Amino acid sequence: MNIRCARPEDLMNMQHCNLLCLPENYQMKYYFYHGLSWPQLSYVAEDEDGKIVGYVLAKMEEDPEDQVPHGHITSLAVKRSHRRLGLAQKLMDQASRAMVECFDAQYVSLHVRKSNRAALHLYTNTLKFSISEIEPKYYADGEDAYAMRRVLKDFKDKSTKDTPSVKAIKDTPGKKDKSKKDGDTSKEKTDTTNKETRES
Ligand SMILES: CC(C)(COP(=O)(O)OP(=O)(O)OC[C@H]1O[C@@H](n2cnc3c(N)ncnc32)[C@H](O)[C@@H]1OP(=O)(O)O)[C@@H](O)C(=O)NCCC(=O)NCCS
Repeated sequence: MNIRCARPEDLMNMQHCNLLCLPENYQMKYYFYHGLSWPQLSYVAEDEDGKIVGYVLAKMEEDPEDQVPHGHITSLAVKRSHRRLGLAQKLMDQASRAMVECFDAQYVSLHVRKSNRAALHLYTNTLKFSISEIEPKYYADGEDAYAMRRVLKDFKDKSTKDTPSVKAIKDTPGKKDKSKKDGDTSKEKTDTTNKETRES
């Protein structure tokens, strides 16, 4: 099993995996929006034959209300055949580390269904997320979501100790360029994060 950064040619297989695993699905352009804007943040798990068996689709929050740079997990899934192998944990850790190293993220946020026992275990017990808010009727079928956060201080401490050269990748195309991108991406956001396509 191998975990690596997602490439543009992976995006269709990520969408396929998403369709198999979750009711929150997205148009292909939303995958490209992530891949093109933040190519460092999404990861895939592949099996021995190079087949995608899991993914994390991640982004930086644009214009955060609290002015604190932070990342967001749009979607995470591992195929049934490959669960309980630690893949989701690894995918989440890789994405979180990249958020810190490339964008100086202070925390990462996500939404999860109140009834999603497996994911709640993963986030709360393994990854040490905590609930920041309950968002009533967040999902299209009326289910509430927990909004959760994980402070990324540990990754920050580790990245300054271990990888002093990481600043070099800060200027990649995925780095937020306010002057150019705001208009375009906010439109994408409105198009794709409506009730039918809630982030998971
Ligand atoms: C949630 C999901 C991503 C977990 O993927 P995974 O690769 O099996 O998770 P991991 O192997 O990394 O699990 C790490 C830890 O999370 C917890 N966990 C994972 N699945 C669990 C389950 N079904 N029940 C209880 N705890 C679970 C355990 O503490 C586990 O550690 P352990 O195996 O040593 O006990 C996977 O079940 C999935 O794809 N579900 C459908 C899609 C989904 O719900 N995505 C999240 C949307 S918010």
